[in-house]
Amino acid sequence: MEKLAIIGGKRLGGEVEISGAKNAAVAIIPASLLVSGICRVDNLPDIKDVNLMLEVLEDFGARINRTSPGSVEIDASNVRCAIPPYDKVSRMRASYYLLGALIGRFYQAEVPMPGGCNFGARPIDQHLKGLRALSVSAEVSHGMVKAYAERTIGASVYLDVVSVGATINIMLAATLAEGTTHIENAAKEPHVVDVANFLNSMGANIKGAGTDIIRIVGVPRMEGGSYSIIPDQIEAGTFMIAAAATDGNVLVKNVIPKHLEPVSAKLVEIGASVDEFDDSIRVKGSRELKGTNIKTQPYPGFPTDLQPQMVALLSVSKGVSMITESVWDNRFQYIDEIKKMGANIKTDGHSAVIQGVSHLTGAPVKVTDLRAGAALAVAGLVAKGVTEMCDIQHIDRGYSHFEDKLRALGAQITRLGEHEGEFKIIQNRKKIVTSAG
Ligand code: EPU
Repeated sequence: MEKLAIIGGKRLGGEVEISGAKNAAVAIIPASLLVSGICRVDNLPDIKDVNLMLEVLEDFGARINRTSPGSVEIDASNVRCAIPPYDKVSRMRASYYLLGALIGRFYQAEVPMPGGCNFGARPIDQHLKGLRALSVSAEVSHGMVKAYAERTIGASVYLDVVSVGATINIMLAATLAEGTTHIENAAKEPHVVDVANFLNSMGANIKGAGTDIIRIVGVPRMEGGSYSIIPDQIEAGTFMIAAAATDGNVLVKNVIPKHLEPVSAKLVEIGASVDEFDDSIRVKGSRELKGTNIKTQPYPGFPTDLQPQMVALLSVSKGVSMITESVWDNRFQYIDEIKKMGANIKTDGHSAVIQGVSHLTGAPVKVTDLRAGAALAVAGLVAKGVTEMCDIQHIDRGYSHFEDKLRALGAQITRLGEHEGEFKIIQNRKKIVTSAG
């Protein structure tokens, strides 16, 4: 298995270009199954989840034409309804979007239960509640979600939990349904709005995305069109946090600053400097960052997907910080890894108390999920010595050219192949010993 090796202690500097939003892309690709004509999608991130989702569409018979890096034409006019391959969808949480898209298109779907990052129970009851409201009969058996309808009929659905996935899935199922659907207590994340904008640009009639109530008036067909995916708010936030943590000075380009307000506000609060421009943000760190308290919440609250990266930063900030994870039951698995690097963190249920330490020390660590990988990289960038990260396939699922972008900012980070790992790491250690005199 490949590893990432980071020699910490470099201040990040320069500019980084943020890619298209993963969590929008993995919904927009299956959404194209609903479109009769050709969908041109730009600003797709070059990540495993996107490539896997495109492969699944090809398995269904869609024609995928990669016109240039980040741009693709999807022609789903001749797709057939099929069961997506287990080995592909079980690796991706977003495979649940195939459910809404296939129901919308064929009135039937059979999809293996989704995989992806494991933060404890990841129920899909709200997805099923929404589908059932649209006159779909849906059940889970033998690890498969099976859904069937004579026809889909618009209805009002109140979500008991604010769920990004359920909101988008119901939108997908309702877009071509008869009549009008209202999703109440809908998720308001930027990628929810992006999927609605994509569908509208193809011919759907969706209003209210980004508010608590989304109204979808069913249309008989969608003809196709062009759409460019929004920048990835979480990738941008990760680089902002990395810049602050390393006492760096980084211009984070191709972002929508409004989507980053919760992280900008917290960085300013702990002593970093954040300057917002039209489509970029400059973050400057400081040696004197101080602790703070954060509670993760659905948008526009502080995003759970930046919680681990922020914990890495706060573990070397002065004083005590308290993090409350209120979206996922079990998103602190990576903390045992960061503690191997010298962090002083105590967890109790949904809370983590961090006593800032003067420095972290590099160590071999295991990436437990996508954002945990980003957090361990932030920790590795500030740590003294070499951090060796294994199980980095999680990072490849969701960050486009992660180490290339970090290296361009001055980080000493290398991807090591299965067999060269130990040798190069030893060589790198020698470099550190040499440079330390
Ligand atoms: N929930 C239910 N029932 C449901 C659906 C969700 O109880 O039917 C609960 C979940 O257990 C969780 C909360 O509702 O406690 C929020 O879950 P949500 O459905 O919003 O999450 P998701 O759609 O599965 C997406 C992102 C996650 C991100 C969450 C929250 C994608 C593919 N994934 O997951 O992203 O953490 O929203 O913002 O969009 C990541 O990118 O690293 C990642 C994990």
